[in-house]
Amino acid sequence: MAKVTVKLAERSYPIDISPKALRSAANLFPGSPRQILIVTNPTVAEHYLQPLLSVLHSHHVEVFNMQDGEEYKSLTTYADIMQQLISAGFNRDCAIIALGGGVVGDLAGFVASTYQRGVDFYQIPTTLLAQVDSSVGGKTAINHPLGKNLIGAFYQPLAVLIDTDCLQTLSARNYRSGLAEVVKYGVIYDAEFFHWLEDHVAELRNRDTAALTYAIERSCAIKAEVVAADERESGIRALLNLGHTFGHAIEAATHYGEWTHGEAVAAGTVIASKLSEVTQKLSSSDFRRVADLLNQLGLPIKAPQMPWQDWLSYMQRDKKVKDGRLHFVLPTAIGSAEVVSNIEHETIAAVITECC
Ligand SMILES: NC(=O)c1ccc[n+]([C@@H]2O[C@H](COP(=O)([O-])OP(=O)(O)OC[C@H]3O[C@@H](n4cnc5c(N)ncnc54)[C@H](O)[C@@H]3O)[C@@H](O)[C@H]2O)c1
Ligand SMILES: [Zn+2]
Repeated sequence: MAKVTVKLAERSYPIDISPKALRSAANLFPGSPRQILIVTNPTVAEHYLQPLLSVLHSHHVEVFNMQDGEEYKSLTTYADIMQQLISAGFNRDCAIIALGGGVVGDLAGFVASTYQRGVDFYQIPTTLLAQVDSSVGGKTAINHPLGKNLIGAFYQPLAVLIDTDCLQTLSARNYRSGLAEVVKYGVIYDAEFFHWLEDHVAELRNRDTAALTYAIERSCAIKAEVVAADERESGIRALLNLGHTFGHAIEAATHYGEWTHGEAVAAGTVIASKLSEVTQKLSSSDFRRVADLLNQLGLPIKAPQMPWQDWLSYMQRDKKVKDGRLHFVLPTAIGSAEVVSNIEHETIAAVITECC
């Protein structure tokens, strides 16, 4: 079993990582019986709801089984959960558990942050992306018809429980998508971890438990460190967006369906790395290592073709655009990165053409 702590003074919290972690969920709620709402969806519930319910049997547990899909991370679902909490007479001492991927986690976290001005929140992430990224760091949100994650709050959970066994039922595509974020941590922050990933491609592709436990632990530790240093993203936390400005453009251009988030981030990471190479911040051999690792993990390294004007307009819609200028996270070596905003559009356009 591995353990990581997110250090945020009195709001610090543990991340416990192990196979069979679900069985120890009762330890999250010692003492007298609590009102607990589990938010999940049918896909996840099929495998993991009963095991969770059985260890929480001494509590008053309600379940909200939301429909599966990004489109349900919505104001409507938010209102439906609030309705259930109020109807069930849940008070300020209740707790909310997110059991699922990033969609469930983001939505349940936002509910927890606002129900009766904030109630206890716990994350049991079941996708690799949620285990290494969305469940850690306290960003919660729902979508608005005019844009993704436009309504939300910074709201940290009291604990994150990661059961690595849950990853065995994940589709191959979703699993690979999570690996893109794992690679991201190595590229921006930890050369040794990147090297370890290069050495364990086969184990990771086979979802080997020991390799996964280590990869998740390192990823969470890096995210925890970055979040502890910059909870509200006024500085270093922005580095976690490596590949995301390009990735969001790919996701938007393909209407959030054809490409998964991780696939788009992988192709976006290759573009960012190429841009860094072309502007002489990153060596050609480091560029190759980034592209090769993503490729070996089964992720796309070529973006879809679209006109430069489309890229530009999608990128300018990205939340990260400040004072009208495009900001990019560029790796400066394996294990370090910086935010750069003064690149000529012709250079960016040429690099994108090369990477499509
Ligand atoms: N809060 C943050 O910091 C943050 C960071 C990154 C992404 N996000 C958000 O996360 C969301 C994407 O998360 P995701 O990739 O986990 O998608 P998701 O929650 O939609 O899960 C992907 C699919 O896998 C299924 N699933 C989940 N666990 C499973 C399991 N163990 N076995 C089988 N199937 C399982 C889900 O039902 C779903 O169909 C987006 O809404 C994104 O905005 C948030
Ligand atoms: Zn991401």
